[in-house]
Amino acid sequence: MKRNLFIILILVFIVAGCRPESSGRPGSSGKMLTADSGMVVSAHPEGSGIGVAILKKGGNAVDAAVATGFALAVCYPEAGNIGGGGFMIIREADGKTAMIDFRERAPMAATPEMFLDDSGNVVPGLSTETCLAAGVPGSVDGLLRVHSRYGVLPFRDVIQPAIDLARKGFPVTEDQAADLNGNREKFIQRNRRLPAFVKDTLWIEGDSLRQPELAATLERIRDMGREGFYSGITARMIVNEMKKGNGIITEEDLAGYTSEFRDPLIGDYRGYKIITVSPPSGGGVILLQVLGMIEPFNVADMGFHSMESVHLIAEAERRAYADRSKYLGDPDFYEIPLSRLLNDEYLEERMKSFRPDTVSPSSSIHPGIIAPVEGSQTTHYSVADRMGMAVSVTTTLNATYGSSIVADSAGFLLNNEMDDFSVKPGVPNMFGLTGGNVNSAEPGKRMLSSMTPVIVEKKGRLFLIAGSPGGSTIPASVLQVLVNVIDFGMNISEAVDTGRFYHQWLPDRVNWESDGLPPATVDKLRAAGHEMNERKSIGRVNAIMIMPNGKKAGGPDRRGNNSALGY
Ligand code: DON
Repeated sequence: MKRNLFIILILVFIVAGCRPESSGRPGSSGKMLTADSGMVVSAHPEGSGIGVAILKKGGNAVDAAVATGFALAVCYPEAGNIGGGGFMIIREADGKTAMIDFRERAPMAATPEMFLDDSGNVVPGLSTETCLAAGVPGSVDGLLRVHSRYGVLPFRDVIQPAIDLARKGFPVTEDQAADLNGNREKFIQRNRRLPAFVKDTLWIEGDSLRQPELAATLERIRDMGREGFYSGITARMIVNEMKKGNGIITEEDLAGYTSEFRDPLIGDYRGYKIITVSPPSGGGVILLQVLGMIEPFNVADMGFHSMESVHLIAEAERRAYADRSKYLGDPDFYEIPLSRLLNDEYLEERMKSFRPDTVSPSSSIHPGIIAPVEGSQTTHYSVADRMGMAVSVTTTLNATYGSSIVADSAGFLLNNEMDDFSVKPGVPNMFGLTGGNVNSAEPGKRMLSSMTPVIVEKKGRLFLIAGSPGGSTIPASVLQVLVNVIDFGMNISEAVDTGRFYHQWLPDRVNWESDGLPPATVDKLRAAGHEMNERKSIGRVNAIMIMPNGKKAGGPDRRGNNSALGY
């Protein structure tokens, strides 16, 4: 079946007039695809296909991103969503940039102690497995607002393919069948009515997943816009679910939700302009801090995956993640000392204790004077159109399938993003990240994220679009793709597919992907004093790079069923 899928993809490439190129580097999937005009790289072939069809119909990158976003809510329910939230970076053809924050918000009845028992201890599962885990969803408002500001096709044309996909169904991939089966018990336990994700027998690759209730919800959004989700029938279904499951999201919370246009963070690394996310995601701050800390060093000369370059990056990450734990949260609630955190002298000062041959234990590294682990399923998609507009979107339900709770009969999954708040100062969340009061749950507040959508310019022109899932590991995955391209001269497929590693301050260790680092490098890092922790897989980057001849090269991560399609 995998071989059949491969043959179909090759045919699609040929019919679409674009070309898969082999990158030749070990570890590369050979899934790099080049296209002349537009491209979408996402976690699922149906999502990429719908986005490219919208581009071909005359839509711009935002139309395609919105169409792909709604399509992923149908064909990639692990993380694609209308019940979650995320961040989008936009770069128009003339170079103007924007960011939309459609992160979930805490309901108005939220309190810092809401996940603690009477003795002040964290109640296991409350912030991840129950209706209380859900933040007020942001995706629908975010996608509608960017479409109304930037889209050129009518909204109904952009959302319709997702509705058709939900109604007609689509064949699940082998990985999806395994995921759905693996989560079957959770779906059964946490829902009073069996959701579309559970059927009589176990899923096998190629089975069709049909979601008529989700199709009806998407139709309400098509016909009524915001009102189709944040009020009326859909809102009542969400509130019904809350009432049955002791949740606290009210109709007022839903009616009051708005996404926010914010200024993206802009930085520079070796002459490349880095446009990325600002708080309430900490991803962009970490990315720019680490790039700033390693820029004075000659990373290229140290060598790819050498002990020297891995140690340098891990030590810089340790310091950046320590700052995250103390200084980052929702900018609407706290003034975040952004300019000081990103200041060159401050970053130089942070690296004064760096030694090229020994570790600086995390117990000796504290947040600078003037961090936590996040979760298991999120998704990133990158879009470029033929006019030069680019969109970089990371979106999530937090854990795989979020809370696994479907909102009554509305057919979509509720997120469990409330776990991204610091449920108790110093107590790690599901990704091992800790934090303090800056990131405690408060009415209407947005929980701190690590999502790191990025767009890079080279000499004033669009150069690269990238992002990744992976909770706390996201900034490190995105960072490595940039360093692999900029310092080590890799093509996009190599840069995405090669092995990864990260350090997140606490726990104090270098995490590395199995087979992702040369054994000699691992030995030397151990000898220098790093605790080394082997992990199966880190991140799933979906990236596009613009080549010198103007063609787009797609780098869908070999990890997962990611797909690059273009024309
Ligand atoms: O916003 C965040 O940082 C997390 N909720 C993201 C979770 C995630 O990436 C899980 N993914 N693999």
